[in-house]
Amino acid sequence: MNATERLVAVADAHSAHTYDPLPVVVATADGAWMTDVEGRRFLDLLAGYSALNFGHGNRRLVAAAKAQLDRVTLTSRAFHHDRFAAFCEELAELCGMERVLPMNTGTEAVETAVKTARKWGYRVKGVPTGMAKIVVAGNNFHGRTTTVISFSTDSEARADFGPYTPGFEIVPYGDLTAMRSAVTENTVAVLLEPIQGEAGVLVPPTGYLPGVRELTRERNVLFVADEIQSGLGRTGRTFACEHEGVVPDVYLLGKALGGGIVPVSAVVSSAAVLGVFRPGEHGSTFGGNPLACAVALEVIAMLRSGEYQARAARLGSHLLRELRVLAGTGRLTAVRGRGLWAGIDIAPAYGTGREVSERLMERGVLVKDTHGATIRIAPPLVVSEEDLDWGLAQLRAVLDVDDAQVEQVRTGRR
Ligand SMILES: Cc1ncc(COP(=O)(O)O)c(C=O)c1O
Repeated sequence: MNATERLVAVADAHSAHTYDPLPVVVATADGAWMTDVEGRRFLDLLAGYSALNFGHGNRRLVAAAKAQLDRVTLTSRAFHHDRFAAFCEELAELCGMERVLPMNTGTEAVETAVKTARKWGYRVKGVPTGMAKIVVAGNNFHGRTTTVISFSTDSEARADFGPYTPGFEIVPYGDLTAMRSAVTENTVAVLLEPIQGEAGVLVPPTGYLPGVRELTRERNVLFVADEIQSGLGRTGRTFACEHEGVVPDVYLLGKALGGGIVPVSAVVSSAAVLGVFRPGEHGSTFGGNPLACAVALEVIAMLRSGEYQARAARLGSHLLRELRVLAGTGRLTAVRGRGLWAGIDIAPAYGTGREVSERLMERGVLVKDTHGATIRIAPPLVVSEEDLDWGLAQLRAVLDVDDAQVEQVRTGRR
């Protein structure tokens, strides 16, 4: 038994099986690369579901975290600390908003948004007590808590976890007509991912997000954009909503906000919306802690330069172009994406998403499958073009594509 087999067996014996990880045991990581306990190197094309947008062990982020570790790491919100003000001010500014409510995980930010929208509905909009409705989209992924899975359409995520939290209406993603009929006078919010990540990087039809924006404005409903996976540079802009010129009422942020070092999430909105809270009505021991704020402040500074967004846009169009060529060989039945974020569906003759992920692992590339045939590709935004090309070459190899076939597709497109 080698170290990998031993560690996988121990983990299997002593952990709840809520995941089905690939049999690779990572020991160290740097940039876009991870090294396992056997000393094998892997190109990371998942980036912790976009929590690692700035790469593993990013020097600036690690330095910010180390400096903070020597100062103060936790105060609780019972006291102020000297990183909190700057974190809230700068994050609000990055979002073009006014106030920040910090939490830790993405799902906590979503829970917080549900509470925010309901309280806003009762206190500001005047919805009768207990009647608030939130409209969400089918195939959403907003997290794993009992309330959040109550409005999931994924039976695996829901089964045997009821009773479910009421107050949600689910409509098909991308369908503005259905959204319009679902919104009533008791609707307090529409909660959407501007691109559905876990569903397989589903980009909604052009005009959908502006349509939702118009509808929600017209009907005095909050538009809550869950940018936990799509935000902070991944799509080539700071926020995925920007691609359609949309500014929601509330941004939900997480993942990359913690720089791949600590969990940091936030609800960011106007003073009118987040002003509904009074002391004692919501909170978190760890939310907005000094270490989280120090790392997030560095993340915000990095995003201000625009460098990462530009990289995601440039490398992303290259990635999507190459994947479309691969689709032209018949190996993929669909390619979707925006920025450095793609969802590909493997043609059934070439294996399942899981099988292709395993074959890629054998060749030193790590990805994760979803929904049977789909693989998401979301490298750290710091990946080099050469490494990305090498990763794509491994994908072509596991799908049995030779150079002549690729050339044929390229020639046909010229
Ligand atoms: C859009 C979206 N919202 C919320 C979450 C939940 O985040 P977390 O796993 O940090 O709770 C995720 C996680 O994948 C996500 O993609």
